[in-house]
Amino acid sequence: MPTRDSFIARRLRPFGSSIFAETTRRALQHGAVNLAQGFPDFDGPDVAKRAAIAAIEAGHAQYARMIGVPHLNAAIAARWEADGKGTIDPEREVTVTSGCSEAIINALVGMLDPGDEVIVFEPFFDFYTAGAAMAGATCRFVALHPPRQPGQDAFWFDPAELEAAFTPRTRALILNTPHNPTGKVFTREELRLIADLCLRHDVVVISDEVYDRLILEPDRPHISIATLEGMRDRTITLNSLGKTFSLTGWKIGWAIAPPPLSAAVRAAHQFMTFSSATPLQHGAAAIIADPGDAPARTAALFRENRDLLAAALTRSGMTVFPSHSTYFLIADHTPLGLGSGADFITHLIERIGVAAICCTAFHHRAHLGEPLIRFAFCKRKDTMHEAIRRLEALKPAR
Ligand SMILES: Cc1ncc(COP(=O)(O)O)c(C=O)c1O
Repeated sequence: MPTRDSFIARRLRPFGSSIFAETTRRALQHGAVNLAQGFPDFDGPDVAKRAAIAAIEAGHAQYARMIGVPHLNAAIAARWEADGKGTIDPEREVTVTSGCSEAIINALVGMLDPGDEVIVFEPFFDFYTAGAAMAGATCRFVALHPPRQPGQDAFWFDPAELEAAFTPRTRALILNTPHNPTGKVFTREELRLIADLCLRHDVVVISDEVYDRLILEPDRPHISIATLEGMRDRTITLNSLGKTFSLTGWKIGWAIAPPPLSAAVRAAHQFMTFSSATPLQHGAAAIIADPGDAPARTAALFRENRDLLAAALTRSGMTVFPSHSTYFLIADHTPLGLGSGADFITHLIERIGVAAICCTAFHHRAHLGEPLIRFAFCKRKDTMHEAIRRLEALKPAR
């Protein structure tokens, strides 16, 4: 028998196993409504499905081109242009990947060397830190704080803390707007501040924009940092099909970047997966070229769900923070006095019958996430109504 305690590489040991899989397992075990993992429980658009089925029937069964099926690259570039973000070359500046997840890993592994540093806002999507670890890079964290001061209605960061995170070793900053798990949409002023620091320190921005179509407040428009003056040449913008079109299982994503940065993404992509499922790329091209009102209808459903959920959690005694986008909201459980974040989740799953995630899972400094619980509201109306009916039993401890 081998003598090692663990065959997991040292750089990946700190990450353990995914909290999402574990919570989903507990939700199933206790018959809880799963508001923990962020996947919709309704089907994607017919346009996408029909095009994917047609591609299978037409025999598109072999490896796709490494950088993406040509008309998918073209559709992604055309959407970027139609959104008023400028013209990009679909062949040299768009790379199709297996979900945004792979694009994140490609950007980090393709660009960073061991010892490089990357700045990450916390709470964060867990792929960022795991991807940095795979690259041998070190993360420096900047906190997004819950809105506590008068006049603040969104999670905020301290510009001085951000500035202090830059060192001579900083190569990249990961931005996620709209932001999981807070529902924050970074403002133009915040983006300008981030952009100016990155310009001054010669740092590349990896901008994860998978929730860009799920804007729930018209006065909080999504802005791509790549469109700010000086930023086009130093930004890798990531996106995917999953959130916008309720097709998370298709795992089709992409990276948009100027040719030198696309070269770094492709250097990793060619050995990570080489290419993504061919028929699904055909389906993706069809829906990106012709989305109709699918994103707007989904956003309208999520807006109603958010309001119902926020009201139910407020009635329970939790402090609910505003969510302006994505399909997540965060609430503070501590007013209920039900113990630690982990205790609260156990109570919620086992006694109330609803699953959610404690935000320690999204923080490097776990104490910052301890009071905060993330709920997903990307569900059908009937699922949400059942969750809300159960949440009526959630009360402060006596
Ligand atoms: C911020 C963020 N980025 C990326 C992803 C993963 O995207 P995909 O499913 O396209 O791999 C998620 C999924 O939860 C996410 O929340």
